[in-house]
Amino acid sequence: MRDMTAASRTGGPDAVIAGAGPVGSPGERATVRLRAEAAAEPPRYAPEWLRLREPADAAARATDLLAPLRARLAERPPAQGGFVVHDLGCGTGSMGRWLAPRLAGAQHWVLHDRDPYLLHFAAAGAARAAADGSRVTVETRRGDVARLTPDALAGAGLVTASALLDVLTRDEVAALAAACTGAGCPALLTLSVAGRVALTPADPLDTDLAEAFNAHQRRTGLLGPDAVAAAREAFAAHGADVAVCPSPWRLGPGERALAAQWLRGRVGAAVEQRPGLKQRADRYLAERLEACAAGELEVVVHHDDLLALPARTGGAA
Ligand SMILES: C[S@@+](CC[C@H](N)C(=O)[O-])C[C@H]1O[C@@H](n2cnc3c(N)ncnc32)[C@H](O)[C@@H]1O
Repeated sequence: MRDMTAASRTGGPDAVIAGAGPVGSPGERATVRLRAEAAAEPPRYAPEWLRLREPADAAARATDLLAPLRARLAERPPAQGGFVVHDLGCGTGSMGRWLAPRLAGAQHWVLHDRDPYLLHFAAAGAARAAADGSRVTVETRRGDVARLTPDALAGAGLVTASALLDVLTRDEVAALAAACTGAGCPALLTLSVAGRVALTPADPLDTDLAEAFNAHQRRTGLLGPDAVAAAREAFAAHGADVAVCPSPWRLGPGERALAAQWLRGRVGAAVEQRPGLKQRADRYLAERLEACAAGELEVVVHHDDLLALPARTGGAA
């Protein structure tokens, strides 16, 4: 579906393409991307895509990381107006809708994104109540989360993000880890791609497409499937305790719209990376979409969630 609001900002509906595809950021990172005249701009994410993936994201996030997070949050003295949560690259706010009702106590969420259009949706659709019914309030901040400093996070109780790390560079993740640990707050960073997928039934082209797709994700220095390893290293270098849990999407007949869109984006990105695959990839995509529509395709897209708990003041982690 086209994102007409974004289209109208860029000279008409033909100026943008919404959803997964060869012109967007790849695969599960379907975007709205401006064409040639604005190619230097960072990719923009279609709200339709973020909404489509929200239920699968919610089902996938690793709940095992919540107990250690809650325990660490419980050590903090109560803060007036609630503890402050920074959601980096919030998009339309899916992380807040998932996490705020799973944490007790009043919360104030600071929603960060560089796209004001997405921030508008995030603020309008934010969770309003915590697990115990306490109030949840929100504010939005437009800006580049790759440039956050410990000062920007002063007073933060928690930093969180979802589907963000893999679109950052190693230096950006290192800066993020420095900012979080410098501010002394935990970080829950969910749904980073792991670079592995499993499609059932298998196809001989799966492997070539996977390699091309992963290479596409790493283009221009972005971490792609290396994000969690880089983040683990960066947080550990600042003395944080780091735990990683798998958070796979499991897409079956009930998620065929998401699976179809994901397939289009994945194959498009792979072909953009390796144009020689095009002919075989076109055949592959047509067959995969047909199987998907018939409810005969199962897809597991592996992700990882990471929880970093900074060393307590005084030394012990
Ligand atoms: C894949 S989307 C995920 C959105 C949301 N967290 C979710 O899970 O639905 C990545 C989001 O990060 C934002 N983003 C990416 N890089 C950013 C940066 N350097 N500064 C601010 N926002 C960024 C994008 O605009 C987009 O909203």
